[in-house]
Amino acid sequence: MSEPYQAEGLEAVETTDREALQALQLERLQWSVRRAYERVEPYRTKCMSHGVHPDALQSLADLTRFPFTAKQDLREHYPFGLFAVPTQDLVRIHASSGTTGKPTVVGYTQNDIDTWANLVARSIRAAGGRRGDRVHVSYGYGLFTGGLGAHYGAERLGCTVIPFGGGQTERQVQLIRDFEPRIIMVTPSYVLNIIEEMEKQGMDPRTSSLEIGIFGAEPWTENMRSEIEERLGIDAVDIYGLSEVMGPGVAQECLETKDGPTIWEDHFYPEIIDPETGEAMADGEEGELVFTTLTKEGLPMIRYRTRDLTRLLPPTARAMRRMGKITGRSDDMLIIRGVNVFPSQIEELVLKQPRLAPMYQLVLSRDGHMDSLEVKVEVRAEVADALPEGEIQSITRELQHQIKSYIGVNGRVNVLPPDTVERSMGKARRVVDNRPKD
Ligand code: DLL
Repeated sequence: MSEPYQAEGLEAVETTDREALQALQLERLQWSVRRAYERVEPYRTKCMSHGVHPDALQSLADLTRFPFTAKQDLREHYPFGLFAVPTQDLVRIHASSGTTGKPTVVGYTQNDIDTWANLVARSIRAAGGRRGDRVHVSYGYGLFTGGLGAHYGAERLGCTVIPFGGGQTERQVQLIRDFEPRIIMVTPSYVLNIIEEMEKQGMDPRTSSLEIGIFGAEPWTENMRSEIEERLGIDAVDIYGLSEVMGPGVAQECLETKDGPTIWEDHFYPEIIDPETGEAMADGEEGELVFTTLTKEGLPMIRYRTRDLTRLLPPTARAMRRMGKITGRSDDMLIIRGVNVFPSQIEELVLKQPRLAPMYQLVLSRDGHMDSLEVKVEVRAEVADALPEGEIQSITRELQHQIKSYIGVNGRVNVLPPDTVERSMGKARRVVDNRPKD
């Protein structure tokens, strides 16, 4: 039986001083890097060709001398080549499908699963959850880390879990009505479907039992936060994580500040680097987020390049640093006629239009030699019937104009009736790229 998560107050490390935290980080970092070097042959080879040895790690800053790990490394050593323990010591495996090629496989020892459960429990508590709360989990269960990660953490905190998983939106709503959970854990795009379904069933979403939403697994903007909070009458907070580093609960936004996820720095050491050159960047500067696991046994990750773009921010509600909202992924960035475009930039503009729903998709194609961008977006169901054709044209023109002036690309906006843009069951597919691969 694992230890119950402490019931009252914060863990001491959440409010420790920076110096003590850094001392703990250095000690754990030295342990983790040495262990990876000794037990993971491909990482040792990489270090050797970089001319660096774990003995060189005398301060946190020394970490920059060590080589990065990338998704490509996991692919090359598929499925188990980067594990630091014999596979019989693993109690669980997860995998992410990715858009191309082989899945990324990750593995956990029993201690890893315990740490993960504790960190998700810590995250749910930072989000305002308490022992005894009912938690409806709509993240997918299975190889995806979302469902089981949320599930074990909620149980560890002493919550009552409703392990629904993704899909069957009608039934989800029925059970939310019947079981009256206080907390929902789901992707921000899927909660919009749940809200729509509540409305379809003639219910005012604001009257549901839900008080807190813990949303993550995909980028979402501040405008999306306001949209969800207003329509569902809840507090919406951000949970961040990735399978390679653990799963959900690498960082969690605190309810009292709502100022970006606090990184659980006692288990994950963050850095920001320039995605082009790999050079370290200062706190506050935007670049690619890199993590080193400090306590993970099964699959230690040293300087793992997340491809997520964000900044490190000073601590507020906890002793650990925060991360800004993810503005995009360096490999998600679209280059349209030479202009860099992130889907989140379009989301922001769509949500500024009061008559448009936050349901959008970007479709890219090639006309001759030119890229073309179509922005499919829906009108809000509640205004759809009363909207004259002229009005739709003027919204279309305005959004096109804003995309041109704020982002710098010509996009064709296509304002569609409600319920026409593809709905997600988990992570939303915001981009359909039909351009020939060349
Ligand atoms: O999405 C883990 C997770 C599950 C996090 C549930 C939060 C909630 P992966 O499938 O490996 O793991 O995808 C990780 O998703 O590198 C980010 O690009 C993106 N992502 C995750 N959380 C956030 C977030 C899970 N809060 C990838 N904001 C990451 C923006 C996020 N992007």
